[in-house]
Amino acid sequence: MGAKDIGAAGPRHVAIIMDGNGRWAQSRGRPRLFGHHAGARRVREIVEACPANGVKYLTIFAFSTENWKRTQTEVAGLMSLFRRYIMKEMQDFVRQNVRVRFIGDRVRLDEKLRSLMDEAEELTSHCTGTNLTIALNYGGRDEVARATQRLAQDVADGRLKPEDVDEETLPKYLDTCVLPDPDLVIRTSGEARISNFLLWQSAYAEYEFIDTLWPDFTKDVFHKLVSSYGSRERRYGGVKA
Ligand code: IPE
Ligand code: IPE
Ligand code: MG
Repeated sequence: MGAKDIGAAGPRHVAIIMDGNGRWAQSRGRPRLFGHHAGARRVREIVEACPANGVKYLTIFAFSTENWKRTQTEVAGLMSLFRRYIMKEMQDFVRQNVRVRFIGDRVRLDEKLRSLMDEAEELTSHCTGTNLTIALNYGGRDEVARATQRLAQDVADGRLKPEDVDEETLPKYLDTCVLPDPDLVIRTSGEARISNFLLWQSAYAEYEFIDTLWPDFTKDVFHKLVSSYGSRERRYGGVKA
């Protein structure tokens, strides 16, 4: 199947829970952060593979609202990795016409990281190629709670009537308001759970749980998953035509 054929039947929006960095490092007798660095290098390969696979939106889970429970060393190492990653890749994203967005609660992130995130969004705001969304301090429940707060404020201020709140209104308050829902959600490392990722948005997504650890996830694995998506029949609660 050529790239063009995939584009027609394939997923427009792929979301990935990039899991298994720690185990990848541990199996090599190295510290967990070694795995996170190897994982970060994989992101570039997959972003670059999107156009040929007909994927217009790629959303990746980098850090969850629950990941603060990890050791201070790991959390600090990850935050420093995110800062360095954004600094290093920003210009390349522009060159590749990649539009970068971040979802998640920024309030808890340090100021330096937040300003780099703003800068990357601003610098790529004119890019029309792949839409790369990075979920950083993201949790699906947290996102819905924050959205509900803003929605409730609009009701309290008289901008929105309670009876007008429906399935079209609520997602406008989510961090993902400008993105289509994911068609395909991939989780690496053999865990078959979604760990609070895109809860509202993935209501009808197809899921792929694969054993590969994230640092071993190649563009060939990505291509295989995107291709097999085309043979799935999505019924959205209806019956086969
Ligand atoms: C995913 O890899 C990356 C983050 C959650 C930041 P893990 O760090 O969860 O790796 P495992 O699951 O422990 O192997
Ligand atoms: C999910 O992985 C979060 C990210 C990939 C960023 P975790 O490793 O944190 O999830 P659990 O703990 O296995 O559910
Ligand atoms: Mg994990």
